Amino acid sequence: MEAPVTDKTIEIFESIEELSQCAAELFMKESELSVARHGRFSVALSGGSTPGPLYCLLSTEKYRMHIDWEQVHIFWTDERCVPPNHPESNFKLASDLLLSKLSLPNTNIHRIPGELSEEKAALAYEKDLLCFFSGCDIPRFDLIFLGVGEDGHTASIFPGIKAADTSPGLAVPVHANKLGWNRVTLSYAVLNSAATVAFLVTGKAKASVIREILEGNNQILPAARVHPEGGRTLWLLDRDAASVLKNRNM
Ligand code: 6PG
Repeated sequence: MEAPVTDKTIEIFESIEELSQCAAELFMKESELSVARHGRFSVALSGGSTPGPLYCLLSTEKYRMHIDWEQVHIFWTDERCVPPNHPESNFKLASDLLLSKLSLPNTNIHRIPGELSEEKAALAYEKDLLCFFSGCDIPRFDLIFLGVGEDGHTASIFPGIKAADTSPGLAVPVHANKLGWNRVTLSYAVLNSAATVAFLVTGKAKASVIREILEGNNQILPAARVHPEGGRTLWLLDRDAASVLKNRNM
């Protein structure tokens, strides 16, 4: 199955620090453009270890002071079904590194209620999405940050876990099985409706899956199936993650 045409750009950086600076500049620029264009900026953050330095950067004066936070609405790409103060919570990650340093109105923080069951949390999040993006069939985020697991998962869409893979919904419950935590994830429908998706991927451990995705177009891998039509996909890679790509000048 050919992936639909999307505007795909790959940028390779010497380090996660340089990659994170590029991602912070992207956040700042897209927030400015979105607020100018439609009066608000909707962004979905992912979890994992990679985006930590980005969230720290955004809290520094260099970026924090140049973003109109009153108009920024923070969502998540996925969440583990744990309380918001749990060390595994994606909300806690962003809250500790960024949100706690801002005076963002609570109404701008669209947390996935991980303290609920995956079904109830997905329903609550879907309701929030439909309310915020009222008038749209499918929410169109201005910017979505995503990571990639070594198995090719992205958000909490895992290879072989049908629910998140095929659901027509916006927010999908994911049953733990071997994943450890029950989760909630944005569906492909929402990820592929974004204006901009930015993948942040670092480390040698991701090199082979990155080649599979970017050069093998292996559609079994969930991250390979995120390519918003009418939007753009940025792949921000460090040298290690890009180290086995044959064509590095895409
Ligand atoms: C999660 C994330 C997940 C993450 C990847 C990559 O909830 O775990 O949203 O999709 O982005 O697992 O994680 P690392 O950045 O730690 O490699």
